[in-house]
Amino acid sequence: MDVLDELQDLREDALRELEAAGDEDDIERVRVRYLGREGSVTLILRGIGELPTEQRADVGRLGNRVKAEIESAIESARSRLAAESRRRKLREDAVDVTSPGRRHFYGRRHPITQAMDEVLGILVGMGYAVATGPEVETDWYNFTGLNIPPDHPARDMQDSFYVTDNLVLRTQTSPVQLRHMEKVAPKLPVRIVGPGRVFRRGDDDASHSPVFHQCEALLVDEGVTFGQLRGTLLDFARRLLGEHVQVRFRPSYFPFTEPSAEVDISCTVCGGTGCSTCSQTGFLEIGGAGMVHPLVLENGGYDPEQVSGFAFGMGVDRMAMLKWSIPDIRYLYQNDVRFLQQL
Ligand code: PHE
Repeated sequence: MDVLDELQDLREDALRELEAAGDEDDIERVRVRYLGREGSVTLILRGIGELPTEQRADVGRLGNRVKAEIESAIESARSRLAAESRRRKLREDAVDVTSPGRRHFYGRRHPITQAMDEVLGILVGMGYAVATGPEVETDWYNFTGLNIPPDHPARDMQDSFYVTDNLVLRTQTSPVQLRHMEKVAPKLPVRIVGPGRVFRRGDDDASHSPVFHQCEALLVDEGVTFGQLRGTLLDFARRLLGEHVQVRFRPSYFPFTEPSAEVDISCTVCGGTGCSTCSQTGFLEIGGAGMVHPLVLENGGYDPEQVSGFAFGMGVDRMAMLKWSIPDIRYLYQNDVRFLQQL
């Protein structure tokens, strides 16, 4: 083929390829193929000296023109690509000012946390300091040290999750009493509130969950009386639920208190006249209480001849249920957002 025809073909090929180029690499490949050091146009220009004399001028002229055309086609391909990428970026970054706003999902404290915070807030306001203990507890702190030896029937009431023979998921927050006394004895007064999660294997129905929460209060000092316990609980209940609330003590038994009582408050739903929430009794049970057993004081490092104390513990889940009239404790643990959102 004639060199001039060849140059025309190369020019057409190069321009077509540049038109199809999709990115900078494509363009560079075309440049190298035609105008690079070993490019086809370059080689023809470089070989002019070997051509017959009469062809040299024409080939040189056309060769230079083709080279210039390809160079300018490279430039326009580059600016075409730049314009395209600018357009794409504008399209991608566009903000649709007419689209509706996105709704943010706000979190909130779980109802149990809310109830716990409220209870703690009141007791802290009454001078109690917050104390905590481990959820995996030793037999001593959860049972034996609290006057519940291994063969004691009271253990059956708190059917437990054992980790080993000596380790148990605590069934109550009362071990916090013992741990704290041990830490601060013989300092007086001891005045703490111990919030926390507790575990009981057998508890599993609308009003019992195998995991639930308690809040325990302990006061130890010289001359602490049962009357002060009553006054403290009445004050506490009224701060929590209102001035009209009544508190009732029913004689009961706990191994670590003597005497012991179940603590009821007048029903917050019917005000004490009787309804289905309180099983027509007018009262609702919120916890247990009593004077700290001498043996427990001793285990904590205090002399029961010198000091006395009271303790009370209440179920926080139960309080949350009362506060929001929740019919089933399991709602508190299923964590269905449709339920939690309402509280
Ligand atoms: N720990 C007891 C329970 O879980 C409640 C209680 C606490 C009773 C403190 C008396 C004093 O049932």
